[in-house]
Amino acid sequence: MDDAETTTCLNGAKRQHVDRSSAQRKSSLRLWFKFLLLFCLGAFVLCYTLPGSVTSQWVSDSFQKHYERIFSRIHQNISHPPYKHYKDDETTRGKIPETTPGKTQLTTPGIIQETTPGIIQETTAPKTTLPTEARTGIQFHQAYPRNYHFIMDNTEVCNTRKPFLVLMVPVAPNNVAARDAIRQTWGSSSLVQGKVVLTLFLLGLPSGADFQQQQEKVRQENQQHHDLIQSDFMDTYLNLTIKTMVIMDWLATRCPTAAYAMKIDSDMFLNIDNLMVMLQKPGIPKTKYLTGYVMWNIPVIRSMDSKWYVSEELYPDPQYPTYTLGMGYVFSNDLPQKFVEVSTSITPFNIEDAYIGMCMKKLGFPVTPPPDPGQFRTYNIMYNRCEYSKIITYILGSSEELVRYWTDLKKPGPPC
Ligand SMILES: *[C@@H]1O[C@H](CO)[C@@H](O)[C@H](O)[C@H]1NC(C)=O
Ligand SMILES: *[C@@H]1O[C@H](CO)[C@@H](O)[C@H](O)[C@H]1NC(C)=O
Repeated sequence: MDDAETTTCLNGAKRQHVDRSSAQRKSSLRLWFKFLLLFCLGAFVLCYTLPGSVTSQWVSDSFQKHYERIFSRIHQNISHPPYKHYKDDETTRGKIPETTPGKTQLTTPGIIQETTPGIIQETTAPKTTLPTEARTGIQFHQAYPRNYHFIMDNTEVCNTRKPFLVLMVPVAPNNVAARDAIRQTWGSSSLVQGKVVLTLFLLGLPSGADFQQQQEKVRQENQQHHDLIQSDFMDTYLNLTIKTMVIMDWLATRCPTAAYAMKIDSDMFLNIDNLMVMLQKPGIPKTKYLTGYVMWNIPVIRSMDSKWYVSEELYPDPQYPTYTLGMGYVFSNDLPQKFVEVSTSITPFNIEDAYIGMCMKKLGFPVTPPPDPGQFRTYNIMYNRCEYSKIITYILGSSEELVRYWTDLKKPGPPC
């Protein structure tokens, strides 16, 4: 009984002490908060009373930079560009401007205006010194895939064997190394857990002086592997949305019997076994299903220095609809046909994964997180055999890394 009382007494004292110190903490917190509020108010007033001043420019610039850093951290594209082979295109970007819009109109006369009325408009005067007509002009291309034609399409691959899953890999024509690494690793087996899996590569047209030579190499490579799909659009970074939509067109017209498909980048590690297990789980939808690394409330980048700059003309909302990160997203194969159809009424912009999100939104279908969201990983910091045996995706640094990790994962012995 005594014991109990002492305890209560002690507890009371303790509580009081806690109460008092928490009250102290609260009041000092309140003081801090007031100070912070005042500071913010001051900064706000400063920015808005001195428009165009050095301060406001600096503040907005650093805000933008901060924003972009956060975005790129999520998007994993800056610290680890997966499209290294497009670097040339980036450096010459400043020169593309004048010629491109005219060229686009020439190659697809009339079509642009018909299918996407109102896109070709004069853009409002830019507030920066950057060549905007150019930047916005570049993106006035058409994402409707039927404006392009397959010049290599391996139509027979889905007729001879009905695949359960088709892995579609967009890759630059000259990136043979990436294709070879994939053929040796996650693209190597056409039968996984008793189901047919196909791996195909999607290419656009090579650019550069050695066009003929590159085309000949591509042709020979296809003769050997029968796994290249090529369409007649220019294979550039800003045309990635076209590439994705051409993938959708191929799936819809050449492979409608497949159950699922995945768009997966060429610099990815894919644990195909785990993906197959996931797709065969009870409760996984057979239609209207899109899953992967889900991106919510991602702000559109309006900074023209950015690789992912999208103008307000092309995409007016400040945020993208929910979408799945472009590194690798999985979908039921009823969707490609619907994406192709709905794309005629969605203004194309160069962020292919967000564009697919836009298609889903327009179709009124939800983007679904995977059963275990932790299986879709982005940036790989260090290889770990046990971890790689549990995940589905990881972004890698090189084709050599892919072969090395794959070989290690497949060696005998328990991974964990
Ligand atoms: C995209 O592809 C079209 C069709 O080949 C081409 O006219 C256009 O210049 C390309 N755009 C860019 C930015 O490369
Ligand atoms: C980087 O961005 C491009 C185009 O916006 C996209 O296709 C690609 O999948 C992105 N990379 C990753 C890792 O998501």
